[in-house]
Amino acid sequence: MPIYKLSINGKEQTVEAPAEMPLLWVLRDLLNMTGTKYGCGLGICGSCMVLVEGDAKTACLLPIHSIQDQAITTIEGLSDRNDHPVQQAWRKEHVPQCGYCQSGQIMRAVALLQEESNPSQAQAEAAMSQVLCRCGTYPRIKKAIQSAIDLSKRP
Ligand code: FES
Ligand code: FES
Repeated sequence: MPIYKLSINGKEQTVEAPAEMPLLWVLRDLLNMTGTKYGCGLGICGSCMVLVEGDAKTACLLPIHSIQDQAITTIEGLSDRNDHPVQQAWRKEHVPQCGYCQSGQIMRAVALLQEESNPSQAQAEAAMSQVLCRCGTYPRIKKAIQSAIDLSKRP
């Protein structure tokens, strides 16, 4: 099997895997990084959202051969102390219910705020609609995004 070098959360990782193996399974099964969740495997639910070169991508649709030499960030690499403004905001607003979709929600929100530091409601809704929540935490997600924007503005 081919060997791939990946850059994940600022660390180089070497894995042996079939070329078409999705990043989601590389993370979960080969690297034991289970923060990125499996929902649909079809690019629909968004629970497997990660950042690739800062852009939000569904890891279930990214074959390993396509992501070499690209900087990948997962929920585990977002901050050292779980204190990224989005994580702080999520705690402040008590967003999660069952929690299953939440790493995807947080990663999508992080990408949104990197793209646009003060997104309009339409921009936020368009971005966050890419991650589904069966528990219906959408109103708290909306509040948490505003909290994250406020926290990011603090000196
Ligand atoms: S598991 Fe990737 S989008 Fe649903
Ligand atoms: S918190 Fe349960 S699916 Fe979103």
